[in-house]
Amino acid sequence: MPGFRRWSKSKFDKNPTGTFKLLAAVLVITFYLIIKEFEDPTVRFNGSVPKYGAKIQCEHWTNGTGRADEEKADKVREAMKYTFWKYRENAWGSDDILPVSGGSSSSRNGWGAFIVDSATTLVLMGLWDELALSVEHIVTVDFTKTDDLVDPFETTIRYLGGLVSLVDLYDAGVIPDNAVSKDARDAILQQAVALANALGPAYDTPTGMPWPRVDFAQSKGIADLPSVSSQYAKYENPVIGPARAGSSILENRVLTRLTGDPIYAQNATLAWAPLVWSKWYRKYNGMIEAPIDIITGAPVGRQRHWDGGHDSYYEYLMKITLLAPTFDPYLSRYREKFSLAAGSLRNHYASRSASAPDHTMQHLFLARDDDQWFLNKQSHLACFAPGTLLLASKAYAQENLGIFALALLEGCRHTYDSTPSKIGPEAWSWIPKFGYDEPIYSPTTHREKEEWRASGFWSTDARYKGRPEYIESLFYAHRITGEARFREWAWDAFTAMEKHCKAPYGYAQLADVYKVELGQWSGEGEGRWIDMQESFWAAETLKYLWLTFSDANIASLDRWVFSTEGHPFRMIR
Ligand SMILES: *[C@@H]1O[C@H](CO)[C@@H](O)[C@H](O)[C@H]1NC(C)=O
Ligand SMILES: *[C@@H]1O[C@H](CO)[C@@H](O)[C@H](O)[C@H]1NC(C)=O
Ligand SMILES: *[C@@H]1O[C@H](CO)[C@@H](O)[C@H](O)[C@H]1NC(C)=O
Repeated sequence: MPGFRRWSKSKFDKNPTGTFKLLAAVLVITFYLIIKEFEDPTVRFNGSVPKYGAKIQCEHWTNGTGRADEEKADKVREAMKYTFWKYRENAWGSDDILPVSGGSSSSRNGWGAFIVDSATTLVLMGLWDELALSVEHIVTVDFTKTDDLVDPFETTIRYLGGLVSLVDLYDAGVIPDNAVSKDARDAILQQAVALANALGPAYDTPTGMPWPRVDFAQSKGIADLPSVSSQYAKYENPVIGPARAGSSILENRVLTRLTGDPIYAQNATLAWAPLVWSKWYRKYNGMIEAPIDIITGAPVGRQRHWDGGHDSYYEYLMKITLLAPTFDPYLSRYREKFSLAAGSLRNHYASRSASAPDHTMQHLFLARDDDQWFLNKQSHLACFAPGTLLLASKAYAQENLGIFALALLEGCRHTYDSTPSKIGPEAWSWIPKFGYDEPIYSPTTHREKEEWRASGFWSTDARYKGRPEYIESLFYAHRITGEARFREWAWDAFTAMEKHCKAPYGYAQLADVYKVELGQWSGEGEGRWIDMQESFWAAETLKYLWLTFSDANIASLDRWVFSTEGHPFRMIR
């Protein structure tokens, strides 16, 4: 990570024995309370009384913005059909298609990541023929066998989340019987159970925090892949970041509800207990210090931010308060922790850009820090934050969070609006107006200086990887505020993606969002494309685009909670 100095050992890096005992006690109590919670099965499925009594979606739609914009929704649906059929014809069964060459890749254990991850998008769009083909594949996969190590985080959010969401959509009556039979529904749930059980060894650590990888053949957790272990070599034990430890509670909560087996929610709760109930020093309330030692639960580094690697922990902390049953003993704890973290984010990490020579407008971005360094750099991933903050502002009736969220969303919008492709870069930097000590990360190359001069920020990674976060936040903003401008921004982004990403076999990633003229590239201009299409393109980017233009009653935020991979779960309380 450019800009970061090395960690210095501080007194907090040591593991005080008393603290460890305290943590162990907390874990035992946690465990006891969860078991207790599931003691009486009759209290399990009682109605849908939202605990905080807040309706999430806009209640007073004006100018028809709550109704579908059929024409635009159809254009997005066409893009999904194109994406599906190119994959079907050229890469069926492999994890992902290579959208430029038409080849395929299987880096997600080869279970057909695209098929499982995109199925819920097919459901919402009503693409029943495509769904039937996908379900046919899903029920035949052996999710317990793979030649590669399994990444519990990616596997949980893409595969397990996709499977349990399909069952939830079926049970909610969203899927007609002639598209998916009851038998197929049961088989999908069995697949989810088989996969979740195979992932079980991930949680087999003294703290319950997950191992970075699982070896399915040996049913055991593995410290790390050799290629990434070197960066962690300085640590005594395996370490993990908050997103990887804290992004399994939604999927496993749903699986526990669907099966009646408490083990899934229990293990996922223990997995993030050292984050939620941390007894270690924290500089700012609610902000996790990372990475964290999975054996002791102690933070061994001091990185703090809501960006990639930490992001979905905060997202799940908020969303579990909408998803968990109202008798969950930890709801108020989760809510309080989220509110503290959101306050810290606003007070210490929201950073306004200073005026640039040719751009006097100032924008709000999200920075990061550790104990020695403030890093004025945000990535596209952090554009999820406006959506989650807006959800909280409505659910918890905290209006100030909503104002903060919209300012951040305008910052993300500015990164899209400033490039020639009208798509924002993967990462960028800015000169903060206040609140930092020299030296600061500054533009150095000619290009960086030019970008900064023109728009008040400069790209530090000019790629577009098909990511959804900006669109995702536009979806929340539209559904929650009812303002028409968010649909316009989503349409601007979609037309730009159609124009620049659409490739012979799908939608490619862009090598440089600032270089759109074919003459700037060698050959026929293929160099502008990266031959990759991650499954989140179909699972999230296209889904959130379509939902932004569809009728606001479809997958209403008053009834559904979306996972970090865009899979909707029923809010049964
Ligand atoms: C929950 O449902 C059960 C069984 O239907 C019922 O006996 C119980 O009184 C309900 N509890 C509440 C709080 O409504
Ligand atoms: C739950 O966690 C235990 C370790 O505490 C592990 O052995 C077991 O396989 C896990 N089960 C599931 C379903 O995650
Ligand atoms: C509805 O349209 C009017 C007139 O065009 C505009 O002033 C107003 O801001 C719109 N309301 C919303 C919520 O978009």
